[in-house]
Amino acid sequence: METPSSPSYHNDIQPIMERYCTKCHYNKKAAAKLSLANYADVVEETRYQDLLFRINCDTMPMPPKRLMRDSLRTVINNWAELGYPLGIPDTTRSKKSSK
Ligand code: HEC
Repeated sequence: METPSSPSYHNDIQPIMERYCTKCHYNKKAAAKLSLANYADVVEETRYQDLLFRINCDTMPMPPKRLMRDSLRTVINNWAELGYPLGIPDTTRSKKSSK
């Protein structure tokens, strides 16, 4: 995957969360009482909690099995630096939508 220069939640972050995180962090009663299932929750966890720390942490990685590849972690880091752009939902994506 190419690293997008202007990542947004809908285009970039949500698909990563759905692929790597929401299996366990699907709502606030799930693992670590941590939801990564919607924009507000992901922003909150990124801003105030240790999401960026854990996805880049060799000793306590998230997802637990092993760190995601560099390009994906870079996308999330860039997205946080840009101030969490929301973007526009891609209605052409055939996958089940977020809500
Ligand atoms: C296989 C299940 C599983 C997956 C997949 C998973 N997590 Fe977790 N996560 C956990 C569990 C269990 C904990 C609590 C134990 C710990 O902190 O290691 C946790 C803890 C965390 C914490 C610390 C929360 C706190 O309050 O200290 C963060 C941040 C986190 N996960 C982010 C993520 C992100 C981001 C992803 C996807 C890239 C992810 N996790 C994928 C199971 C999972």
